[in-house]
Amino acid sequence: MKKRLTFRRFTWTQHIQHDTAQQKFNSVLTLIKSARWGYIMEKVNRLEQFWQDFVKVLPDTVKLEEATVAHFLQMPVTLFNHATDVNVAENRAEAFLRRIVNHFSSIGLPFACFRVSPLTRPSFVSLLERYGFEKELEQSIMVFEGKPSENRVNSNVTVNEVGEDEIDVFNRLIATSFEMPFEWKGALDKLLADFTRKGERNYLAYADRKPVGTISLFSSRKTGCILNVSTLKEYRRRGIGTELTMHVLSDSFKEGNDLHTLQADKGGDAERLYRKIGFKVDHIVCFFVKKLT
Ligand SMILES: CC(C)(COP(=O)(O)OP(=O)(O)OC[C@H]1O[C@@H](n2cnc3c(N)ncnc32)[C@H](O)[C@@H]1OP(=O)(O)O)[C@@H](O)C(=O)NCCC(=O)NCCS
Repeated sequence: MKKRLTFRRFTWTQHIQHDTAQQKFNSVLTLIKSARWGYIMEKVNRLEQFWQDFVKVLPDTVKLEEATVAHFLQMPVTLFNHATDVNVAENRAEAFLRRIVNHFSSIGLPFACFRVSPLTRPSFVSLLERYGFEKELEQSIMVFEGKPSENRVNSNVTVNEVGEDEIDVFNRLIATSFEMPFEWKGALDKLLADFTRKGERNYLAYADRKPVGTISLFSSRKTGCILNVSTLKEYRRRGIGTELTMHVLSDSFKEGNDLHTLQADKGGDAERLYRKIGFKVDHIVCFFVKKLT
């Protein structure tokens, strides 16, 4: 009898201990999950804040009701012309959407565009679709969280920061590699000059003693963003884009940034390049576009 009781007591104690351990485990798990969630959201917030800082440099950007409307009218592309940082009450969403469409129409753009991020409030994708908007582009917002590698992939390439005397070469190379319309060159010169005044650093890659690739670094609030990555067509797939990105990533660290980011078309060639270096997708943003007649 005594033995049985002892046995029972033993099992009961075990049960209680198990419960306590399970509860402890669950609460630690909850803590870890909420800390991780807090960390994830803080990063999304910082990256989205970076984009707001970035579009403010665009010369025609305006604040309109509960949104920022990024504009660079000389380059009528959605990347430089869209409503962003949208934070509107659910019951005002429809009126707000109509207001933004009217705004795009009134300034003569052939489209209206919203950039939808995980922070867009309300997440009004279905409303946009109801109003005839279509998803035109998905972009991966990527971050690098490791240590930059010292390994070279193409030791025949040198990367140098560009001084004022080389800025025209840099601009021409961007226009060629991104296949921009010829008439955009003046606008591109202005845009790059504006960003350079705000602290953007520009670089050229040299191979066979000629400039063959471009890249820029723009930092704000300790976030370093890599932009304008391009290689001339005839020099692609030789590791030049990789050399450029690794060089500038290292400079972003040296500048004291503690978040290193870039944006690429989701699933595209450039995203593959960045993944190889160690960048990972943090979140996705979508550009919803409606053609205006
Ligand atoms: C994207 C771009 C910069 C790549 O430049 P690059 O000098 O060819 O890049 P790399 O040689 O360093 O490529 C590194 C890796 O990226 C991937 N990659 C790059 N271009 C690719 C392509 N066309 N198809 C498939 N994978 C590709 C590959 O994995 C490649 O490694 P691998 O050649 O060993 O397979 C170049 O194609 C370009 O200038 N495109 C136009 C401008 C542009 O879109 N820039 C990106 C802005 S985010």
